[in-house]
Amino acid sequence: MDSIGNTVMTDGELDQFIDHVRLETGINLDTSKRYLLESRLGPILQQFSMNYSELLRSVVIGGSIENQALISAITTNETYFFRDEHPFNLLKYKLIPDFLRNNQNAVVRIASAACSSGQEAYSIAMVLKETLFDLTERSVQVQAFDISDDIVTAASKGQYSKFEVERGLSEEKIHRYFDCVEDRYQVKAELCSIVSFSKQNILKPAGMMGKYNIIFCRNVVNYFGLKDRALLFDNLADMLLPEGVLVIGATEFINDQTGNFVKKSDKGSVYYEKID
Ligand SMILES: C[S@@+](CC[C@H](N)C(=O)[O-])C[C@H]1O[C@@H](n2cnc3c(N)ncnc32)[C@H](O)[C@@H]1O
Repeated sequence: MDSIGNTVMTDGELDQFIDHVRLETGINLDTSKRYLLESRLGPILQQFSMNYSELLRSVVIGGSIENQALISAITTNETYFFRDEHPFNLLKYKLIPDFLRNNQNAVVRIASAACSSGQEAYSIAMVLKETLFDLTERSVQVQAFDISDDIVTAASKGQYSKFEVERGLSEEKIHRYFDCVEDRYQVKAELCSIVSFSKQNILKPAGMMGKYNIIFCRNVVNYFGLKDRALLFDNLADMLLPEGVLVIGATEFINDQTGNFVKKSDKGSVYYEKID
């Protein structure tokens, strides 16, 4: 038993949890992450009154509530509005104007893959509002997804704390895009009307909805091992429409052995154009 009464995780259980997390999410933990696993799984053991071996039995079934709790506990959800700024300038001053010039009446479909609590998707919606002005005038959709049930539920409410809105948004933007409800900030209905959230594993895209002109998939691939990185980029290429564009995180890169993308840069941001 450890100091809070949980049984100690054996080396065999540690290996099995690591394998399970990789198979379920792509997240590549190694045995040096024992402390991280123990500290994140401890509350789950207590919540379900289980020991590690009972939890293992339950999570490998997949689809169980214990498995969802494990995925929510293991994933890192750090995000904020207009994170890294440059990709949103790229969207506003290059990608959307180019798209509108070449496709006058087409639907604009943008995905926020691995969206966490939704700040990226709503930032994209704010950029759309600032480039298109009237969001009802043409068909625009931002579809956001994440593997964690809890985070998708939180994101779809569109409600944030003062601390969260102040991370990345000016006073003026907060005022323009949120209604103040008691001590929470609610994203205005006009933006919510073009953003939808769903649970989706980006490594298992069977249920993906349609195809996209632009995909933001940022700050997730670095958690994956080499094989899952290649799988992810193949999936993302499949999800893009011809001439579609992929934007990944500032510290991420595509070592593109697959030949799916050509690397470009503009407005201080790297992006990848699909090769058809
Ligand atoms: C660090 S956040 C990045 C959020 C946002 N894209 C950003 O850049 O601010 C990483 C997110 O990836 C999600 N994630 C991890 N593995 C995933 C998978 N296989 N499929 C979908 N989402 C995944 C996590 O749940 C987490 O919310």
